[in-house]
Amino acid sequence: MALTVRDIAAADSPAFDGHERMVFADDPESGLYAIIAIHHTGRGPAFGGLRMRPYRDVRQALDDALKLSRAMTYKSAICELPFGGGKAVVLGDPRTDKTPALLHAMGRAVNALGGAYLVAEDLGTTLRDMAVMREVSAHVRGVADEAGAPTPATAYGVLKALEAAVAHRLGARGLDGVTVAVQGLGSVGARLCGYLAEAGARLIVADTDELAVARLRAQVPARAVAPEAILGTRADVFAPCALGGVIDAAAVPRLAAPVVVGAANNQLARPEVADRLAAAGILWVPDYLANAGGVIDVAHEGRGYDPRTVLEACERLYGITAEVLARADAEGVTPSRIADRLAEQRFTRTPRRRVA
Ligand code: NAI
Repeated sequence: MALTVRDIAAADSPAFDGHERMVFADDPESGLYAIIAIHHTGRGPAFGGLRMRPYRDVRQALDDALKLSRAMTYKSAICELPFGGGKAVVLGDPRTDKTPALLHAMGRAVNALGGAYLVAEDLGTTLRDMAVMREVSAHVRGVADEAGAPTPATAYGVLKALEAAVAHRLGARGLDGVTVAVQGLGSVGARLCGYLAEAGARLIVADTDELAVARLRAQVPARAVAPEAILGTRADVFAPCALGGVIDAAAVPRLAAPVVVGAANNQLARPEVADRLAAAGILWVPDYLANAGGVIDVAHEGRGYDPRTVLEACERLYGITAEVLARADAEGVTPSRIADRLAEQRFTRTPRRRVA
């Protein structure tokens, strides 16, 4: 049986937010079973990473795709980039199920959307996987020769958002002596720690992978704590740079830092947690704003790509964050409400595409 790509309806899903289109891609031969969610294409093609995880079931995968694609729309819009929001998720274990045949099938599924969706790496996929998909699809971004890895830009953007939040809340100029608790020392977290150490910040770190902790501590001075302790560690800033959903209602009273800003996508288990954080006096910088550096990087992709220009472009995340926080204070609402509003002013919703 060949690859099939069929439209699905998801309007009854709690994470549905007027998404323009959702498709299932099914290729029994390679084992590909994937969902592509396109939230919005008003500013340009929907851009978003390809995530591969052993999801519990289709509903969980769909939920992830819907939430992540929506965040991508807001991320590109708030930074005024020429992209809409999309996301693709593959149901499967990247360690055992990911084969060239599966990646090629995924590339053909992306092609079936005719350029409405641009794909790049995400959790469970790598730059090498993107190169494999590029063999069959022109709609792949983040491919060597025309771009670098988006990680340095993501980490640098988080640094800028973090500096703006620290200046706003702690009145501190720069990060000298500021304590940052970093959860997750993968590509972004480790790079962020490097930038923070350079800026004079004191680091407290945790990762479920002991090797990652050891690698980091060989490079920069950092105190390590157990993964389950990092969220409640006393610090000036908590920086979630691992998985999403780490801040739920129960986590709010455990947080011991007045500022939360990090790279992880969908940090809040539910949107309402933003109100709880504000009520607890904790300043939370919306994740899609703090981690927008990766998309800024992709927007610079092409011949003449220069990583220094990308980092310069990421500097503006300081200004956008400062603006969001100042307006939130002035209006007495949460930063996420202001960020959403700013982003929504920068994309116009298109009529919903109903699928039977
Ligand atoms: P990664 O997979 O390289 O690193 C994640 C790290 O978190 C790993 O070292 C893992 O062992 C650790 N980890 C997992 N669960 C943990 C826990 N409970 N406590 C402590 N550590 C834990 O991922 P990467 O690329 O660094 O991304 C990190 C986050 O930033 C993800 O949520 C990703 O979606 C988000 N992000 C990444 C971008 C990029 O450019 N790579 C762009 C935008 C967002």
